[in-house]
Amino acid sequence: MSTEAILNTVDIVKLENDMEVESFESEDRDLNDFLLNDARDYLKSLLAVTYLLKIGDETVAYFSLSNDNLIKNDSERPVWNRINRFIPNNKRRRSYPAVKIGRLAVAKKYAGKGLGKRIILAIQNMYINEPQRAGCRFLMVDAYRGALPFYQKNDFKFLTEQDSADATRTMYFDLKAI
Ligand SMILES: CC(C)(COP(=O)(O)OP(=O)(O)OC[C@H]1O[C@@H](n2cnc3c(N)ncnc32)[C@H](O)[C@@H]1OP(=O)(O)O)[C@@H](O)C(=O)NCCC(=O)NCCS
Repeated sequence: MSTEAILNTVDIVKLENDMEVESFESEDRDLNDFLLNDARDYLKSLLAVTYLLKIGDETVAYFSLSNDNLIKNDSERPVWNRINRFIPNNKRRRSYPAVKIGRLAVAKKYAGKGLGKRIILAIQNMYINEPQRAGCRFLMVDAYRGALPFYQKNDFKFLTEQDSADATRTMYFDLKAI
């Protein structure tokens, strides 16, 4: 299937308690295991909501979301100043409401065809254009090292330099930047 056909065909479906995901194979075993074995428990426990990207019956990618908080780190003043620059003076706080992309993976077979980007656009759309139940200003992710260029291409920024040598790095995206 061409890249264009994939992007035109894919549906985004919320994972429900009674849904089975029978197979999913991305490059990352932990992310595969989460979807196959844990995602419904996280849903039942109100800890994360998972969304599946489906082409017909096949799950081609998924992501999960949880509420989060972007908290001021006093040792990263320039970053905080940049964040605050787009927030009116009288609304500036030490923390802002956010949503965390807890997990995100594209099946190996479909990697590099724009599905990751489609996921980011879908999440932005959920929190900007769809009816809101709570304020949410930022997207957050603890990005795997291998996925840093992907998030950078999607305009996520690093929150701190303190995690620059870690296995994951915290990144954020300001929804008002769109
Ligand atoms: C990272 C991942 C989600 C990217 O999904 P994808 O569908 O392959 O990415 P896309 O095709 O939408 O790529 C979007 C852009 O990011 C770039 N990109 C994606 N992965 C990249 C990588 N590893 N290195 C450099 N650039 C990358 C693409 O070139 C593309 O750039 P363009 O818009 O200029 O063409 C996918 O490779 C994956 O599931 N990896 C394993 C799990 C993982 O690391 N998840 C992230 C957890 S934090």
